[in-house]
Amino acid sequence: MLKGKMCVVTGAARGIGYEIAKVFADNGAELALVDMAFDEDFHFPYGEYRKYTTDVRDFEKVNETINSILEDFKRIDILVNNAGITKDNLILRMKPEEWNNVINVNLNGVFNVTKACVKSILKSEAGSIINISSVIGLMGNAGQSNYAASKAGVIGFTRSLAKELAGKNVRVNAVAPGFIRTAMTDKLNEKQQEAIMGNIPLGKMGTPEDIANVCLFFASSQSSYVTGQVIGVDGGMTMY
Ligand code: NAI
Repeated sequence: MLKGKMCVVTGAARGIGYEIAKVFADNGAELALVDMAFDEDFHFPYGEYRKYTTDVRDFEKVNETINSILEDFKRIDILVNNAGITKDNLILRMKPEEWNNVINVNLNGVFNVTKACVKSILKSEAGSIINISSVIGLMGNAGQSNYAASKAGVIGFTRSLAKELAGKNVRVNAVAPGFIRTAMTDKLNEKQQEAIMGNIPLGKMGTPEDIANVCLFFASSQSSYVTGQVIGVDGGMTMY
């Protein structure tokens, strides 16, 4: 489905980003994997790729990285903004660093990478930008005001960019994962996990592959008439 397409995936060293890259590679894409930290034993046996170490918070560094990607691959068709972090705290205890860091990675990072890639994506015949938001950006969550604000921001950014770039046939969509088994959710204790499970109509946590498959839909021509959308991949937690 992605043969001949060049895709950039951020936060691709593990978790959801790794799985998105794998599913894209299985579907014929060429890949630039971007992350702040790749493990020494990082292994990606799925197709043609190069990896680039960069921090999405750093506007200049991101520009340099995307320029290197363009030197290596000559073009970019698809961008998945997936890199993200949590730093949970109640507002009474939340330190400005906790607020700023989450906004810097999850929202400013999306701006930095998109801005650096967009010129090239506009030259693609069917460009697609996919932003990974979260159900928390739609519903809010106690102790996650920083994360919720960043992920709601990503949704506003997605819709605005979808309007801005539609005339050039570049589509921009967001995926809002629910609770997906990765290092990010392994941090939750048993009690928290049980409480979450009670709110998921399908009664189970999702897998990174569940998210990757929806990203594949947004990346491919299967979704050629879909832009500015936010899709919850959350076992039915959000229904709207
Ligand atoms: P993860 O923690 O397993 O992986 C995140 C990756 O992003 C890591 O490889 C990390 O090194 C990279 N990263 C973090 N900060 C970075 C930076 N400043 N620059 C470059 N790379 C950076 O997380 P997971 O679970 O795979 O999450 C991926 C995305 O999905 C995130 O945006 C997260 O907010 C979102 N999400 C995850 C959910 C879940 O249940 N796991 C639910 C909803 C959304």
